[in-house]
Amino acid sequence: MAFTIAIDGPAAAGKGTISKAVAAHFGFAHLDTGLLYRAVGAKTLTGTPAIAAAQGLQPEDLENDSLRTPEVAQAASKVAAIPEVRAALVDFQRAFARRAGGAVLDGRDIGTVICPQAEAKLFVTASAEVRAKRRFDELAAKGLADDYEAVLRDVRERDDRDMNRSDAPLKPAADAVLLDTSDLSIDEAVRQAISLISERT
Ligand code: CDP
Repeated sequence: MAFTIAIDGPAAAGKGTISKAVAAHFGFAHLDTGLLYRAVGAKTLTGTPAIAAAQGLQPEDLENDSLRTPEVAQAASKVAAIPEVRAALVDFQRAFARRAGGAVLDGRDIGTVICPQAEAKLFVTASAEVRAKRRFDELAAKGLADDYEAVLRDVRERDDRDMNRSDAPLKPAADAVLLDTSDLSIDEAVRQAISLISERT
């Protein structure tokens, strides 16, 4: 049986952690769609044109260790504004969403564009300061950041680009349930996400 859970939200809102835990709870497969845009962004940093990179994307491109850096995140949000890049990634995401056994997809446009028929939709948010703090801690632990203000600027810049692009802008689907994680621990955010989704199943 196919069952799709769409989890969208701005940068570093906790979508990744929540999506992994939700997928494990329901025994569903999980796709981090941000990784597709990051992989395309990473290729542009080494000189491949964005549209060609998206059209030629290979599964092994998603295993590149450098995809989590702030430079790649910025490149991802730039290529994500190009309609031909988004178009090249649609079929893969939709096929994943409808696979037998259920799927969780997290991103920016899953509930609005990729899977408007998803059985459950969450929109995960938190204040920009809280999101930047979480991302700063995550990057600092890997030695990839040492300046909170720079991470906050990066988060705001990406949010702004993601919300204001004309193709598939970041916004909650009309039927999405909002989950603000600003004041929640990881465990509490996961617990609330599972309970909100369970109400829909
Ligand atoms: O982990 P974080 O929330 O910082 O970012 P991500 O989910 O890995 O996404 C990186 C960038 O890819 C975003 O800033 C978006 O511009 C883009 N993206 C998108 O446009 N649509 C998606 N479904 C997923 C990501």
